[in-house]
Amino acid sequence: MKHVTESQQFDLKNIEKIFQLADSLEKNKDLPLKGKIMASLFYEPSTRTRFSFESAMLRLGGNVITTENAREFSSAAKGETIEDTIRIVNKYADVIVLRHFEKGASIRAAAVSKIPVINAGDGTGQHPTQALLDLYTIQKEIGKIDNLKIAFVGDLKNGRTVRSLAYLLGKYNAIEIFFISPKALKIGADIKDYLKRHKISYQELENWNLILGKIDALYQTRIQKERFKTEKEYQKYKGKYVLTMNEVGKIKNKSIIMHPLPRVDEIAVEVDSSPKAAYFKQAEYGLLIRMAILKLLLT
Ligand code: NCD
Repeated sequence: MKHVTESQQFDLKNIEKIFQLADSLEKNKDLPLKGKIMASLFYEPSTRTRFSFESAMLRLGGNVITTENAREFSSAAKGETIEDTIRIVNKYADVIVLRHFEKGASIRAAAVSKIPVINAGDGTGQHPTQALLDLYTIQKEIGKIDNLKIAFVGDLKNGRTVRSLAYLLGKYNAIEIFFISPKALKIGADIKDYLKRHKISYQELENWNLILGKIDALYQTRIQKERFKTEKEYQKYKGKYVLTMNEVGKIKNKSIIMHPLPRVDEIAVEVDSSPKAAYFKQAEYGLLIRMAILKLLLT
């Protein structure tokens, strides 16, 4: 593994290795990345992804240099290309964690980088480390991934986390997916083609009433406000799917509710105390997965 750019690059063996390493890092006291430098280059907002990567690096003994608003405060503001920026950062760091507003940016970055580039979200493209931590959450909280029924809800057109997780699920057996979204925000044809090729059954629905009682996991997402041309357009979809205790009551007792976070209004705060709510745990697992990825790339 040289770079982490998209979910398709992982096979079951890699995934298993990352999960085992993540398990073993829970009680880590070693500093295997002492003397290494991670550059976090963020052109779009982030809380969890940047902090968990930076915390992961520090916990493994490494150091961090960071720009959390690269669109404004890096030389991109002066017109520098991503390729030039990456070539320069190559001289100052040992690994680059990149969040960018353009789909495919991390692949462009990796093409000119001698040090590993990790895609921490590229526009409406992918977010592969989120997908790994999502899958790890399913493994830890449900105990298995095969034979899973999962519903993805919300802005499936613009949300990169669902796209990346769907690619990973395509590698498992007897998965059943329900894509629940307004017609205008349906999951991309590339994902559907991939699932067909991998014999994963899926259905596209506009509401969740019929499936709440069937699923093992509900993966709620935010309507991606920043991808809409106008506020008016965004307001059409905001608040379309709000998970309250009413819906949670219809979900099976052992099932889990996930969300990559940040949430706006799509999960009512009252749901947080339900034993089915796994979204804060999910963010916690992100730290272990990111420690595992950094360790694998740098040692
Ligand atoms: C997600 C993202 O940035 O794609 N956030 C995250 O990394 N946990 C989801 C989102 O912003 O809705």
